Amino acid sequence: MNHRFLALITLAAAACITAAAQPSGREKWNDGWLFSKDGTERVLNLPHDWGVEGPFQQEYPGETGKLAWWGKAWYAKTLQVTAEDLEKDIRLEVDGAFSNARVYVNGTEAGGWPYGYASWAVELTDFLKAGSNRIEIRLDNKPESSRWYPGGGIYRNVWLTKTAKTGIAHWGTYITTRHRGNIARVVQRVTLKADQPKVACITTRLLYRETPPGKIVEHIVAETRSVEQIYGGRTIVQTFEIENPRLWTPDSPQMYIARTTVEADGADEMESYETPFGIRSAEFRADGFYLNGQKTFLKGVCLHHDAGALGAVWSDDAWIRRFQMLKDMGCNAIRTSHNPPAPEFLDLCDRMGFLVLDELTDTWTWPKKENGYASLFDDWAEKDLVAMIHRDRNHPSVIAWSIGNECGEQGDSTRWWIPQMLTDICHREDHTRPTTAGNDNPWAAFQPYAETIDVYGFNYKPHLYQKFVDEHPGKPVYGSETASCISTRGYYRFPVEQDKGQGWAMDAPFQVSSYDLYAPGWASKPDFEWQYEDIVPECAGEFVWTGYDYIGEPTPFNMDPSVLTNFHTEEEREAFKKMVAGWGQEISNVPLPSRSSYFGIIDLAGFPKDRYWLYKSRWNPDVPTAHILPHWTWPGREGQITPIHVYTPGDEADLLVNGKSMGRKKKDGYRIVWDDVVYQPGKVEVIVYKDGREWARDVQRTAGKPAKAVASVDFNGRELAYVTVDIKDKDDVLCPDADNLLEFSVKGPAVIVATDAGDPTSHVPFYSTQLPAFHGKASAIVRRTGQGKVTVTVKAKGLKAASIVL
Ligand code: GAL
Repeated sequence: MNHRFLALITLAAAACITAAAQPSGREKWNDGWLFSKDGTERVLNLPHDWGVEGPFQQEYPGETGKLAWWGKAWYAKTLQVTAEDLEKDIRLEVDGAFSNARVYVNGTEAGGWPYGYASWAVELTDFLKAGSNRIEIRLDNKPESSRWYPGGGIYRNVWLTKTAKTGIAHWGTYITTRHRGNIARVVQRVTLKADQPKVACITTRLLYRETPPGKIVEHIVAETRSVEQIYGGRTIVQTFEIENPRLWTPDSPQMYIARTTVEADGADEMESYETPFGIRSAEFRADGFYLNGQKTFLKGVCLHHDAGALGAVWSDDAWIRRFQMLKDMGCNAIRTSHNPPAPEFLDLCDRMGFLVLDELTDTWTWPKKENGYASLFDDWAEKDLVAMIHRDRNHPSVIAWSIGNECGEQGDSTRWWIPQMLTDICHREDHTRPTTAGNDNPWAAFQPYAETIDVYGFNYKPHLYQKFVDEHPGKPVYGSETASCISTRGYYRFPVEQDKGQGWAMDAPFQVSSYDLYAPGWASKPDFEWQYEDIVPECAGEFVWTGYDYIGEPTPFNMDPSVLTNFHTEEEREAFKKMVAGWGQEISNVPLPSRSSYFGIIDLAGFPKDRYWLYKSRWNPDVPTAHILPHWTWPGREGQITPIHVYTPGDEADLLVNGKSMGRKKKDGYRIVWDDVVYQPGKVEVIVYKDGREWARDVQRTAGKPAKAVASVDFNGRELAYVTVDIKDKDDVLCPDADNLLEFSVKGPAVIVATDAGDPTSHVPFYSTQLPAFHGKASAIVRRTGQGKVTVTVKAKGLKAASIVL
C-alpha cells in the first residue's frame, strides 16, 4: 500500500461502481413511465428506444436501419412531493432523449433540450406543488436527421435529484491533477449554489476505494476544510497533495473519489457530492501521445452509440461485454463518433481503461441531412459543448474534445471561425485537454484551417501523415478514422480479388467477403493504413472505423440516393444509376435489404470477424496468436484454389493441409498468405514461429452435417446475460454455413429481450425469440427479472435442443 493514509473507513458491502460526479439525493427515475405514441399507451421502464422495437421495413432507408425511429411521442410519470421536499431543489436529469425534448410539469413547460445525444437537466422546484405532479416529456424525432440509426425515445437514464438549497451546482465540480516524482497535486474547483448568501463549511476528502470480497474499504488520502461565504455561482478552489499516487493508465485504471460536503446553517442543511477522478497526465506532443510521460500509441476504434439488438438503449452490461472484447483485442482508445456518449460509457472507460476522444457532432452549419444538427448549431452548439465538457471533464479517460466530424466548413475559409470558436470554448471550459476533429478534406489540412484545432485528425488519409508532419512541425497528428474495411463474418468470395472494390456483388446475398481486403472508394484495408503508421513515428495513433457493426449505414449496400458517402462524385452516382438501369431498376428502388453496417471488427451480435485477430496481432504483438481464414468447409470447391491467410504477430509460419506442408513462409507485410492452396476437405493447420521458435497454432477442420446446437454463456452480467448458440457437427466442428432456425425460451425469473446473429440483411425483428443461425452462430440477450435459477433452452430445427443454466 503506497499511500500515507489519513484514515480508513470500512463500509458494508454494497454494489459499488464508481459513477459520474453526482450529489447525494440523486435517484434513478426510470421505472413506471406511461409511454404514448401513435394513439397507443403503455407503461414501461426506461431506458427505452421505440425504434428498435421494429419491425424492419424494406421500404425504410437502410441508412438508418430500416427501423421507424422517427415520430412524436410522450412519456409521463407522477412525482409525489411533500411540503418538506418543496424546501429543497428538485431537478430532473435526462442523460439522452431522442429528440427535441420538452418537459411539462402539470401542463406548464419547464424546460427541455433539442440535441438527442446531450445530457441535460430541468429545475422542477418552481413548478411543483405538494402532492401529485404530472411530469411529461414530449419528443419530436424528425426524419432526415441522421446518417445512421439514432434511436427514438428516452434511451438513457433519467434521474431525480433532491438537494439542499445551499450546496453544489449541477456538474459543479472540476478536478485537475498534476504529478511529479512521488507527489500529485490535485485541484478541485467547486461551483456553489445558494438561494441566499450564507456561511457554510465545505469539506473535501479524497478517497481511494478498495473492494475486497464482501467489503468496501475507503482510505482517506487527503482532506481540506474551509468556512466560506456562499452565494450562487461562486467557485472556490481546493488544493491537495497526495504522496505516492496510484496513476491511472489503461492497464491499471486506478480511480480516486473526491467527496465534498457543504454544511450550511449549522448542520441543518448538508449536501454531499462525489466526484470520481484519476491522476494522470495526457499530452499530445509533436511526436505522439504521452500518458504519464510515456509514449503511448492510440490503438483506437470509433463507436456509434447503439448496442446492436438493444438499439440505442443504454445498458451497463451490454457495454461491459463490448469493452471486454475490445480490451482483449488490445484496443486502448475509443472515439465516440459522432456525439457525446452516455455518461456511464465514460464511467466504464475510466474503470476498464480506455482513452477517449469525446465528440460533439457530425455537422456544424453545413447540413448533411435536412433536419440534422446544422439546424440546431447556431442556437445550441455552445450549450451542447459546454454541457458535454462540464459533464465529462473529470473523467481521466477523456483525453481530447473532438469538436466535429467531416464538417463541410473545412473547405470554406470564410467559415473557419467556427472551429476556432469551438476550440476557444473548449479551452475556456477545460484548460487541460486539447481539441481535435475528424477531417476528410485533404486541402484543408494544409490551410490555416489546421490551426483552428490543437490535434489534427485525418479521416482516411494516411498518405498525408508525413506531409502534414513536414508542413506543420510541432503539430500532433493521428488517424481519427482509419480503414473502413468491410466484411461479413463467415462469408468468403472466390476468386479472391485484390482490388478493394471486388469483395461483393450488388446482388444477393448482399454480403462482403471476409478476406479483409475490401473497402469503399474512400477507404482501405487495414494493411494500407499501417504501412504509413510504420514510417511516420509522429502519428499518435488510429481510430478504426469501426470496433463494432452498428445499425444503419450498410455501405456498400446503402444506395439510397440521398446517401452522400456512397458517391463521392457525380460520375460515380451516374455510373451506379446506369448499372441499376441495366437491371431495369430506378436508383431509389434498388431492393437492398441491408440494415446494419459491415464496417465492424466485431459483428452486430458481438461475434468477432476475422479482422479481430488481425488487429489483435498488431496491437498485442506479445500475445501468441494464430488465426486461419477462411473456414475449411467448402463442399463443391474440391480441387479449386482457396487462398489461406494467417493473422499472427509471429514472423514465420508453416501451413499443413491434411498434413502436407504448403511451404514455410515469412511474413510479408501484415499477414502470411498462401495464395495457391487447393481445397480438399480435411484439416488445415498453421504453426507459427517467432524468432525461429514455435509460438502459436490454429486449426480449421471441414465440418460434417449439423448435428447439434451448443449453448454457452458468453457474458453473465448483473442484469443481462448473453447466450451464444453454435451449430456443430457430431465431432464438435462449427458448421460455418448452418442457418438452422433456432427458437429460444427461458424458464425462471428472466425474459429474452433480443436476439441477433450478426446478419446485416436480416429482417427478423430483434425482439423475436426465433431466428435463423447465421454462419453457424446466434446470440440471445436475457434479462433477469428476479432471484433464482434461470434456464435458457434453444431448439434448433432438425437438431438436438440445448439448455444452459445461467
Ligand atoms: C466517414 C464518416 C463516418 C462513416 C464512414 C464510413 O466518412 O465520417 O461517419 O460514414 O465514413 O466509411
